[in-house]
Amino acid sequence: MTEKALVILAAGKGTRMNSDLPKVLHPVAGAPLLVHAMKSGAMLEPARTVIVTGHGAAAVAQAASDWDEEAVSVLQEEQLGTAHAVAQARPALEGFEGDVFVLYGDTPFIRPETLEAMAEARLRHDVVVLGFEAADPGRYGRLLMQGEVLEKIVEFKDASEEERAITLCNSGVIATDARVLFDLIDAVGCENAAGEYYLTDVVGLARDRGLSATAVACPEEETMGINSRAELAQAEAAFQTRARAQAMEDGVTLTAPETVFFAHDTVVGRDTVIEPNVVFGPDVTVESEAHIRAFSHLEGCHVSRGGVIGPYARLRPGAELAEDVKVGNFVEIKAARIDRGAKVNHLSYIGDAEIGEETNVGAGTITCNYDGVFKHQTRIGARAFIGSNTMLVAPVSVGDDAMTGSGSVITQDVEPGALALGRAKQVNKPGFARKLFEMLKARKAKAAKEAQ
Ligand code: UD1
Ligand code: CA
Repeated sequence: MTEKALVILAAGKGTRMNSDLPKVLHPVAGAPLLVHAMKSGAMLEPARTVIVTGHGAAAVAQAASDWDEEAVSVLQEEQLGTAHAVAQARPALEGFEGDVFVLYGDTPFIRPETLEAMAEARLRHDVVVLGFEAADPGRYGRLLMQGEVLEKIVEFKDASEEERAITLCNSGVIATDARVLFDLIDAVGCENAAGEYYLTDVVGLARDRGLSATAVACPEEETMGINSRAELAQAEAAFQTRARAQAMEDGVTLTAPETVFFAHDTVVGRDTVIEPNVVFGPDVTVESEAHIRAFSHLEGCHVSRGGVIGPYARLRPGAELAEDVKVGNFVEIKAARIDRGAKVNHLSYIGDAEIGEETNVGAGTITCNYDGVFKHQTRIGARAFIGSNTMLVAPVSVGDDAMTGSGSVITQDVEPGALALGRAKQVNKPGFARKLFEMLKARKAKAAKEAQ
């Protein structure tokens, strides 16, 4: 099989975003646009991935290597055009033999099947371009076809009236052999309306040399490029629409699909129910037969089979919930492992903790995990009962089958089976309340009289 390399163009400024953040780092579904492009390209199992950076190069390179540490970033100091951009990838592809696929960092939704169709077309043609039938061809490059053969790509600025009438447009994605690509790019000039080195010129040049070229067409929504905040919002909406439909197809019940927001990597098991207004941040897996109730926010966490979360729960990174765990309203959990069947049902903060099987954590319990400088662990065993409003001052542990009294401030470890009480002793003063009331009422009456 032909080896493949991925070149992703991400040097452009994205002026219309009106942002300090490089365009390709703006997120859709919790991941930078660039990561979406890298994820699309990953289906090719590229031997090398090269990101062409320019504006915000350091940040873009960082995002690329955060996602794929083998990705190599190269710098295009001046943005002289798409062919010039691809030329910058040449040193990084030294010694590589095989096909190069060029993608854009601001075009997040190319499907794996589409790239596969391109790879397949490459078996029959030297150059393969991804095209689409544009509802409004606007300023896209136009594909000049003769039957199955792609003769040339004409940029809008350079196109005649006749050529502008063509609706089959260039997505920007192109695939060809690496050596052929760089040979052709060497021949690209900048004598055109924009004064840029157009990557699109490689098609005409290839044809002049007797090479064959063709176009593979995909639905327009795949080639959607993001240039403005409005388009970013449209891309988010398009992503969410697809993710909701996919979840339902996968056997997930969404009571009000249009109010549930998924991340690019959310995984939800079959027969799980997701109630309205649930938001998933990145890196969440929910197993089968769980129930995520309304207004919950989940990020970087794992909910096992049978878990019931919310309403109004917040699961933060590192929340690891075993089977049949219940997390109720106004509960926040971070970096904590909750074992099978344990319950944290009301108004609690559990952070940097372990909670054993079948343990019940009472309302208002707080793990005081932070001393202002360091974070500390709380360990609670199995079948324990943590009384309401217990403050667990970490580092601290509570053994199996132990109990804490409501309102306790637990600063010392509690041994298994023990009852810990860490609160002031109650004092009752008979008749005192009545006297106090009388005194206060008399004071109020006196003040009212003086005000007359
Ligand atoms: C390009 C295509 C056009 C196609 C359209 C699809 C060319 C000459 N034209 O036009 O046929 O219909 O995309 O959206 O290729 N970039 C760099 N360095 C550069 C120039 C661009 O990295 O020097 C990157 C941009 O950041 C962007 C991508 O390449 O991600 C496309 O560049 P852009 O200027 O948007 O090209 P278009 O004029 O839209
Ligand atoms: Ca563009």
